[in-house]
Amino acid sequence: EQARQIQQTLAEFRLSKNQLLEVKKRMKVEIERGLKKDSHKDATVKMLPTFVRSTPDGTENGDFLALDLGGTNFRVLLVKIRSGKRRSVEMHNKIYAIPIEVMQGTGEELFDHIVHCISDFLDYMGMKSARLPLGFTFSFPCHQTSLDAGILVTWTKGFKATDCEGEDVVELLREAIKRKEEFELDVVAIVNDTVGTMMTCAYEEPTCEVGLIAGTGSNACYMEEMKNIEIVPGTEGRMCVNMEWGAFGDNGCLDDIRTTYDQAVDENSLNEGKQRYEKMCSGMYLGEIVRQILIDLTKRGFLFRGQISETLKTRGIFETKFLSQIESDRLALLQVRAILQQLGLDSTCDDSIIVKEVCGTVSRRAAQLCGAGMAAVVDKIRENRGLDHLDVTVGVDGTLYKLHPHFSRIFQQTVKELAPKCDVNFLLSEDGSGKGAALITAVGCRQREELK
Ligand code: BG6
Ligand code: GLC
Repeated sequence: EQARQIQQTLAEFRLSKNQLLEVKKRMKVEIERGLKKDSHKDATVKMLPTFVRSTPDGTENGDFLALDLGGTNFRVLLVKIRSGKRRSVEMHNKIYAIPIEVMQGTGEELFDHIVHCISDFLDYMGMKSARLPLGFTFSFPCHQTSLDAGILVTWTKGFKATDCEGEDVVELLREAIKRKEEFELDVVAIVNDTVGTMMTCAYEEPTCEVGLIAGTGSNACYMEEMKNIEIVPGTEGRMCVNMEWGAFGDNGCLDDIRTTYDQAVDENSLNEGKQRYEKMCSGMYLGEIVRQILIDLTKRGFLFRGQISETLKTRGIFETKFLSQIESDRLALLQVRAILQQLGLDSTCDDSIIVKEVCGTVSRRAAQLCGAGMAAVVDKIRENRGLDHLDVTVGVDGTLYKLHPHFSRIFQQTVKELAPKCDVNFLLSEDGSGKGAALITAVGCRQREELK
C-alpha cells in the first residue's frame, strides 16, 4: 500500500509521449508570439534579438578580454585569436567567487566587485595598460538594440542585485571601470551564455546554429530568419535569437503538468511566478523539487521514520553534483546512503531506494521537457528553410548536461522522438562561452573599423 502511494505521487512526473508533443506544440506557439510585432510585448518566451548575424568564419583575429557571469563560476579570460590557415585560439582564465551578499546586494557593489576581479586578472597577466576590447557574457535576459547595449529585463537564478533591472548593463560595467580609475577597456559586446556557447562550438563545427545551456539555468538560442524577427528592421539573412525559454509557462500554459511540488519550489524561490519551465528543468531547482517530494513522503510516514530533519528543511541541499552521484548506476545503495549521510540524512536501505527513484523521476522529466523544447526549435528551423529533413548541430554547455549520468541521453532521445524529421548532432562545448564572446567581439571590432 505504501509502495502504491509513492508510485501514485511519482506518476504525476511521468509524462506520456502525447503530453510531451503537447509541450513541444505550446513552445512553438510561444516562439511565434515572441517573434511577432503585435504580440512580443507580453510574450513569455521573449525571443530577444542578439545582433549576432553569423557564426564564425575563421577570419576573426586579435586579443580580447572576456567576462563570463551568471553560471556556477564567474571567470575573467584573455582570449588570443589568430586567423588564417593556421587559425588558433589561446585562452587564459581565472575563476573568481561572487559571494551571495554581492549577488543579492546593490548593483554598484556587484559591478565594483566584477571590476575588482578584472583588475586582479590584468595584474596577474601583466596587461593593465593595454585597453583591450572586451566581450561580456552575461547570462540573463537583456533587451539589446545593438551588440554593445543590453537592458536587463529581470534577474533570474540566484541573482537579485538592486538598481540593475531596466538599466543598460554595459553602461553599469563602464561606469564601474571609470570609478576604479585604474585601467581602460573597450566594451564591445554583451553576449548571452547560450549565444557564446553556440559561437564556441560553431568555430569548430560550422553546422552549429543552435546553443543550449542545461546548467544552473536552462535556455537556448538559434539562428532565426531576419524576416521572422519582426521587431528588428531588415529582412535579409539571419540573426541569432536568445529565446529565454526558461520563462515558458509563466502565462499558465504549463499548469496542467505542474505539480504541487513545482508550486512549492516556485513559492520558495527568489522570483515567484517567473521562470516556471526553468524551475522544472534546470540544475538550480531539480534538487529543490526532490526535497519537496521527500518532505511530503516523510510527512506521510513513508521515509526517514517520519522525522523531518533540519537538513531536509534546508534550501539548496541537493546540488546537481549530489543528484548526479545518487543517480549514478555505478554506485551501490550503500554508497547512496553514504551520500545522504554526508548531507546529514540518516537513511535506511529502503529509504535510499526511494530517494534514488525520486531523483531519477524528477531528472527524467527535466530531460524530457527540455527535449520537447529543443524539438520545437529544430523543427522551427527546418520549417523556416522549407526542408523535409534538417541536419543541424546544437552546441551544449552546463553542469546538469555534463555531470548528470542520464540527463543528456534522455534529452537526446526525446529530441529524436519528438522531431523525427531532424538529425540533430549535439556538440559539447569544452571551452565555455568566453571563447564565443571573444569571437563575437572580434567581429564587432571589425564592423566598427569598417564604419569609420
Ligand atoms: C559555462 C559557460 O561553461 O557553462 C557559462 O562558460 C555558462 O557561460 C555555464 O553560464 C552554464 O553552466 P552552469 O551549470 O555553470 O550554470
Ligand atoms: C537563465 C537566464 C538565461 C541563461 C540561462 C542559462 O535562464 O535567464 O539568460 O541563458 O539561465 O544560464
